[in-house]
Amino acid sequence: MSQILPATDVNIQAAATEIKSGQLVAFPTETVYGLGADATNDTAVASIFAAKMRPDFNPLISHVPDFKTAMKYAVHNSWAEVLAQVFWPGPLTFILKRKTNCAISKLASAGLDTLALRAPEHPTAQTFLKACMTPVAAPSANRSGSLSPTTPQHVLQSLGDNVPTILADGMSEVGLESTVIDLSGDTPCLLRHGAITQEDIEELVGPISVSCHIEGTDAPKSPGQLLKHYAPNTPLRLNAVDVSSDEALLGFGNLKFMGITGGGFATDLSQDQVLNLSPTGDLNEAAGNLFAMLHKLDLLKFKSIAVMNIPNTGLGIAINDRLIRAAKA
Ligand code: TXA
Ligand code: MG
Repeated sequence: MSQILPATDVNIQAAATEIKSGQLVAFPTETVYGLGADATNDTAVASIFAAKMRPDFNPLISHVPDFKTAMKYAVHNSWAEVLAQVFWPGPLTFILKRKTNCAISKLASAGLDTLALRAPEHPTAQTFLKACMTPVAAPSANRSGSLSPTTPQHVLQSLGDNVPTILADGMSEVGLESTVIDLSGDTPCLLRHGAITQEDIEELVGPISVSCHIEGTDAPKSPGQLLKHYAPNTPLRLNAVDVSSDEALLGFGNLKFMGITGGGFATDLSQDQVLNLSPTGDLNEAAGNLFAMLHKLDLLKFKSIAVMNIPNTGLGIAINDRLIRAAKA
């Protein structure tokens, strides 16, 4: 049985003790819930892959409270320092070169000579990481290939008894995984879109490239960027301009002009069949709701989920990235 611990000071300390003894703990961050283990403990890191049923050893992000701690494990990098000053703690992950004798498990790097590091902003995550006194490797706390969790209930639904302890603290505010930027090469390269946008980063470090591939191949540099990902069980139909009566509708903005195939308006559909990411068309609100609403509609087992068009600007780029992956699976 998993234990769900409300994030009181005493429980945060207890969760940190679990980490130090090699156990897994799911914990809240502002992006999504993470499934954490002591990043310096090979066996603990390996048990993350087992619990998630991850088919391959895709590298993991190690979480630290601040930049100073990050620099114990990675080779110093001036771009990272500039970006951390503005965006850390926050939803931004750096890929940096590992220091020789880096204490973080090679398994967390999946054998690469680089390391993913992030300092989350969530106050519970901050207190927890400080109490752990060790970097915490954590992917999203869901079964591999399924939707990322933004509530403790999602974690429990997806991982069940595979997660012994869940530190619970409400809904993740950002709702999308962190932006991942590779700073280990000659030019910074954006590997995953997130709440910190390409423009935010370019303002500080100049032009960057996007979605790099391993030289001379089609293989994405970031193994986690394989297309099959973030998938609900119900098929998604993107950029829907109408909805059929046996579909669920995931709306964005005003639903007034959304028609039902064959006649009628979406506003006539049953209430639980329709969720709106943001009635006012606010992309931040939509990102925060995305995974939770997909989860909810997925449980209703409609033929498919029709998703209205999301503008491809700002945070909309990251939302569309997740939707396209979810639809491909
Ligand atoms: O918001 C987040 O980033 C959440 C929370 C828990 O922090 N974590 C998360 O972890 O989304 P995960 O494991 O689902 O995604 C990590 C991404 C993957 O796409 C992985 O391939 C990439 O980071 N990654 C990790 N280490 C890497 C490395 N050394 N080189 C390239 N990509 C790396
Ligand atoms: Mg994930």
